[in-house]
Amino acid sequence: MVIRVALALALFALVPVPEAPSAWPASAPPASAADSLVAPPILPNRSREPRTVEVTLTATASTVELVPGVRSDAFVYNGRVPGPTLEVREGDRLIIHVRNELPEETTVHWHGLHLPWQADGSPFYPIAPGEQADFDFVLPEGSAGTYWYHPHPHHRTAFQVAKGLYGALIVRAAHDPLPAMTEKLLILSDNRFLPDGSIQIPDAGSLEARIDFENGREGDVLFVNGQVMPTVHIRSGEVQRWRIVNASAARVYRLAIPGHELLHVGSDGGLFGQALPVDEIVVSASERVEVLVRGTGDPGTRVALQTLPYDRYIPQTRPPDWDEPRDLVTLEYTGDPAVRPVEIPKVIRPIEPLDSDEVTVTRVMSLTQGFINGRTMDMGRVDEVATLGTTEIWQIENLVGMDHPFHLHGFSFQVIDRNGVPEPFPKWEDTVNVPKHETVRFIVKFEDYPGKWMYHCHILDHENFGMMGVLEVRKP
Ligand code: C2O
Ligand code: CU
Ligand code: CU
Repeated sequence: MVIRVALALALFALVPVPEAPSAWPASAPPASAADSLVAPPILPNRSREPRTVEVTLTATASTVELVPGVRSDAFVYNGRVPGPTLEVREGDRLIIHVRNELPEETTVHWHGLHLPWQADGSPFYPIAPGEQADFDFVLPEGSAGTYWYHPHPHHRTAFQVAKGLYGALIVRAAHDPLPAMTEKLLILSDNRFLPDGSIQIPDAGSLEARIDFENGREGDVLFVNGQVMPTVHIRSGEVQRWRIVNASAARVYRLAIPGHELLHVGSDGGLFGQALPVDEIVVSASERVEVLVRGTGDPGTRVALQTLPYDRYIPQTRPPDWDEPRDLVTLEYTGDPAVRPVEIPKVIRPIEPLDSDEVTVTRVMSLTQGFINGRTMDMGRVDEVATLGTTEIWQIENLVGMDHPFHLHGFSFQVIDRNGVPEPFPKWEDTVNVPKHETVRFIVKFEDYPGKWMYHCHILDHENFGMMGVLEVRKP
């Protein structure tokens, strides 16, 4: 993987981008045909204050159409799956009222945001049925990126997400370093259903429940923004910016568009320093990517965004069809003549590497099947204590034959190496997939916000079981 990346970088430097004939229009007008892919609506801001966004998110049980033509009992945010998109700007003050109209306790976690721990929506602050919680925090400068929100009640996250609770959260930059272009949001999720439309969740103790626990629950129906195989239009030569969220409980997507080289430009915590040309991008559960899709195909043609086989499983519980590619989205070229592609800056957003000379502590997290350092989650226990203001290295060792995506709340980190192979450049992440029997090291600085933060495997069934721990960041 790393070798491929290095090669791709080298090629990018050597091969000049072909010059378009000068008769082509200089910029890409929006694709003329309407997409069937629909982005969730933006949560309306009811604040009149400058730089303030005030919204209400209500979780309810409702019967909605998840698969076309069938009604399913689901949990919804503001009446829909996925929930509306929370769109804000870095530096904004966010006031979010969360109303719990579900028949059970919930929380809403703002996955990836850097905020005071009381506002994190972690299992420490459950919202009882019928109650409302009010969140109020300020988004730091430099935090522009693609995030998401989902419930996080102890032992119930997997169930509530499977029932339909998840949504995107976009933090926009004051000055976006990428040129203006058509932007798409793609929230990836999967689910499975009984013939009557109900969301299929196996009985506790059944063989299927045990397989779900092992693999993480996957579904055979793949959704993008809650739609099955929607269409996106592109004009030949046009460049589009796609923000992709993996909101699946466990599924890893290995994204590719046949015949198209993708420009990987961002991860969990926003844009990279430079664009990385790749043939495919692996996105594990809860990760996000930003990618530039370049319309290098001919007018009138079509191609699919696919997820290629990815073997994250132990052989005994590997799904029979794991090795088949699946189509996610149809990318349809309009009949319009080609336009000249927009220029992508060589340097997008310079990212300073965190200083390894400042590291005072190295922590080892050993992952086994359902356990971190041999333990499961205890809400009354603090597993790790860190000092505010310090920089640490976390060494995540996967001791078993299955991938585990490791997530840390509240603080973005920079992966430094994977199995001893250094990362090519620094980027901001809050989740890193740790493949079977591999070790990943990241560097993290606990700059502010003392409190209790969770870290866990983001395969929701593993998290539910307790593959999670508590990091307390204390003032010195
Ligand atoms: Cu998506 Cu504990 O988080
Ligand atoms: Cu999180
Ligand atoms: Cu796991």
